[in-house]
This record gives sequence, structure tokens and C-alpha cells, in this order.
Amino acid sequence: MYDYFLGGSHNFAADRAAADRVLEIFPETGVAAQTNRHFLRRAVRYAAEQGVRQFLDIGAGLPTQGTVHEVVQTVAPEARVVYVDYDEVAVSYAGQLLAGVPGTAVVQGDLRRPDELLAHPDVRATLDLDRPVAVLLLAVLHFVPDDDDPWAAIARLRDATVPGSHLVLSHLTLDGIPPELAERGQAVYRNSTAPLVPRTHAETLRFFAGYDLVEPGLVETTRWRPDDEAKAVDSHGYAGVGVVSRPAADNRRITAACGTA
Ligand SMILES: C[S@@+](CC[C@H](N)C(=O)[O-])C[C@H]1O[C@@H](n2cnc3c(N)ncnc32)[C@H](O)[C@@H]1O
Repeated sequence: MYDYFLGGSHNFAADRAAADRVLEIFPETGVAAQTNRHFLRRAVRYAAEQGVRQFLDIGAGLPTQGTVHEVVQTVAPEARVVYVDYDEVAVSYAGQLLAGVPGTAVVQGDLRRPDELLAHPDVRATLDLDRPVAVLLLAVLHFVPDDDDPWAAIARLRDATVPGSHLVLSHLTLDGIPPELAERGQAVYRNSTAPLVPRTHAETLRFFAGYDLVEPGLVETTRWRPDDEAKAVDSHGYAGVGVVSRPAADNRRITAACGTA
């Protein structure tokens, strides 16, 4: 559905039918998906300009239309990018698209199992966890229900990365949407293979526990350091970038004291 919203050709009839139902309710969804990709480009360029040379893109989907390695390698040709998705089809397509592309790897992995993901031989071979890594979680956390505790998964990724590492995150929200409209939109996704979990600003902000948020903080997606490409539209999303500023042991002590990740 997301590929269809972006105007791509890697989608099936059932995806298109469901996506058309979403578009009837939220006609701006295609534009919102593009604003997410624009944010991705601004944020990864920002991280590369801060000196980050390693990127772990979890829930990467299909690496087309302005990919992470293309953006960061314009800043630093030696930068390395691992694309992760749990979807077999996405991983297989991505593997074909990126075969032989230097500095990239494609891994099948699940955000909800961060230890397995970090231990994957291709992750280990491509990324050096003793050096800063930008963990990218764009438009993926809203597929992970609260019961799977995505906050704990992010805390684990944070603690596995050294100070100077970044978290780049975007998330669907229905803040500000009339409840009956929100309910109709969610009903379409309830019948899809990937039910949606939109979150409020406060719930999304909790993902940045233990990170220092860079300016302008967690904001509506188009407002994060806009450039000429960023149009002021309703993105139905929040976006932000955080930086690990303390060693993991300090974060664990704070977690124990406050009872929260
Ligand atoms: C809407 S796409 C986002 C693609 C890309 N990150 C972007 O922002 O353009 C969401 C992707 O997340 C993947 N995904 C959902 N849950 C996941 C999980 N628990 N672990 C890894 N990938 C997941 C889906 O398979 C899909 O490819």
C-alpha cells in the first residue's frame, strides 16, 4: 500500500484496492507518504553531516525513490547502510535492487527482536557497533502494537549503540483528526495484514527516552528542518532525531531509578 501511495510499481491488486479505500477517506495520504520520504532524506543527510557513517534502516521496505545509501554517500562515499525488513518479499526485492552496491547489506530481521537483529552476521560484518550508528525507524513503529513493547526494543538498540549514535524516527498520528474519520481509516487497516497503531505526541516522544532530541524536537513531519522540498501539508505524522549522549550503563541506571525505559 505504501509503495502505491508513493506512486511505485511494486504492489499487488489487493494492496491497490485497500489503498484506494484509504485515499477515499484521507485523500492526502499519498502526499503524506512523500513527506515521510522527504524527512528521511533530510534526517539522514543531517546525521551524515554530524559525522555518522553507519546506518541501520529497520523497516526499510523497498529501497527505491531516494534511498538512504544514495543520500548519505553523497556526503560520505564510504558510509555503510544495512537495510532490514521482516517481510520476505521486501527483503528479496531489496536484495535484487542492491546486489553489488558497495557499502550496503540487506537483512531479514524483526524490530521486535533487537538482539537477534544485532547479532545477525551481515549486520556484524557491515557495521562496527563500537562506532556511532544512526538507527532509522521510519513509518514502521506504527505497525508494532503496545503489547509488543516497541519502547523496550528501542531502549535495547539505544543501549547497543555508543554515544554519538542517532535515532531517526517518524510515526503516524491521528492527533487532530475527527474521531469518526480516524475510525473509518483504521477500519481499512484492521482487515489488512498490517494493522496500524497511530500514536499521540506523548506516546511517540517516549521512544526518545535516553536520547537528546535535536532541534526542533518531535514535530509534525514537514516541520523538521524543512528545505525547499518540504511542503506544508498535513502529514498525519510526527518526526524527530535524537542522539545518544550517555553510555548505556548510565541509561540503565536512570531506567532503574525512574522505572521507565
Ligand atoms: C510503510 S513502510 C516504511 C518504509 C520506509 N521505512 C519509509 O519510511 O519509507 C513499513 C515497513 O516496515 C516493515 N515492518 C513492519 N513491522 C516490522 C517489524 N516488526 N520489523 C521489521 N520490519 C517491519 C514492513 O514490512 C514495511 O516494509
